[in-house]
Amino acid sequence: MIAIYPGSFDPITLGHIDIIERGCNLFEKVIVAVLRNPSKTSLFTIEQRLNQIRHSTEHLLNVEVASFDGLAVNYAKMQQAKVLIRGLRVLSDFEKELQMAHTNKTLSPEIETVFLATSNEYSFLSSSVVKEIAIFGGSVDHLVPQHIAIDIYKCYDKTQPKPILNQR
Ligand code: PNS
Repeated sequence: MIAIYPGSFDPITLGHIDIIERGCNLFEKVIVAVLRNPSKTSLFTIEQRLNQIRHSTEHLLNVEVASFDGLAVNYAKMQQAKVLIRGLRVLSDFEKELQMAHTNKTLSPEIETVFLATSNEYSFLSSSVVKEIAIFGGSVDHLVPQHIAIDIYKCYDKTQPKPILNQR
């Protein structure tokens, strides 16, 4: 069974990667799908995000990385996927995610949303948290793969060498 993991991934974090790894254990193929959303300002371009995700998931054999426009359920149908994966971190995620799952169900009843509980160690982590820390000059080395931390420091002109805390 094919699953789509849709999102903005601006940038992908260790929390997202944890969800992808676990999705890969459950499904034959996981397509990480980056929404092309012109109305949202982003730190990284779509191409940068696709490259970051490809690099971060190259240890996983059943992952594909792509971008999509429009409705996630339409993209899922185009890819013959039956499942949308979403990570749930904390209770406050639940309301928005449940609404989205119900909306998607009205649009496409044959597509199921499968929620994976984010691992405890990443329950606080989001792309926005990563950007906020970086804006104020903090280290994000423990939150994203090292190659993405470097990309982020370049955006904020923070070029001093950082300690390598994670192995990705
Ligand atoms: O990482 P994000 O920003 O929380 O991801 C949100 C995303 C991209 C999964 C969601 O906004 C989405 O699926 N957008 C595509 C448009 C769509 O299908 N909307 C209907 C569900 S409300």
